Amino acid sequence: MLFKEEIHYEVESTQKLAVKIAKSQHNAHGTVIIAEKQTKGLGRTGRRWESPVGGLYLSVIIQKPLPIKLFHGFSVRLGLEMAKLLEEKFSLPFKVKWPNDIMLNGKKIGGILIDMNAQNEEINYLVVGIGFNVNIRVQTLSDETRNIATSLLEAKGERVSIKLVKDLILRAVANVMEELETNNLRDLKQEWKERSLTFGQKIFTELFGEGAECIEKGITDSGDLIIELDGKEEIISNGDITLIR
Ligand code: BTN
Repeated sequence: MLFKEEIHYEVESTQKLAVKIAKSQHNAHGTVIIAEKQTKGLGRTGRRWESPVGGLYLSVIIQKPLPIKLFHGFSVRLGLEMAKLLEEKFSLPFKVKWPNDIMLNGKKIGGILIDMNAQNEEINYLVVGIGFNVNIRVQTLSDETRNIATSLLEAKGERVSIKLVKDLILRAVANVMEELETNNLRDLKQEWKERSLTFGQKIFTELFGEGAECIEKGITDSGDLIIELDGKEEIISNGDITLIR
């Protein structure tokens, strides 16, 4: 996949900008909106994503008329691929947390946000937003984020090239897209078992509108989470989980 990078110093949100482009232009496949900082970074489920200088903030536009069902589990595949490439590069034990957090040493270091638009079972566009804490000192983050976040700078004790991390993340996107386009989807189960922070552990999630304690049992090939609740397996396709320590 060929990327066309558009670099900004400051934007409200690369995601917002990329969605606007994806909606109005039909030849934007591969466009990557990158910013050094965001003033209104968006996280999943309406949360905000703190985006000071030092982090990596990018949104990739995918505009291929591929079947929507190929993209089920896209963010899970991408998270696993990112964690693998990052581990190879930095020799650090990156993990994933369902549905799409990248974790290091039990803390969040990166997140993925997907905006999708489809028609007649085919993709119009997908905007893949990725935020990654590269050279961020966690003490500079807000009270609510400080204790649950980490960065490459914190883990390595030295600054890391943001460009290097950006190239690596774009390679992960390209690898997953190639899997999809060649219809050569790898089996996620084993990889998930090795890489999920919560595999086999007690977790807390919302189920049937209520909080529930259950056990993480694995992932389906479409990226849904398999859990065990009161001795029965259930599948959840959206939501959040928390590890119970
Ligand atoms: C999450 O909640 O874990 C997802 C966070 C995604 C943040 C990225 S930063 C680049 C892109 N632009 C945004 O406004 N959000 C995403």
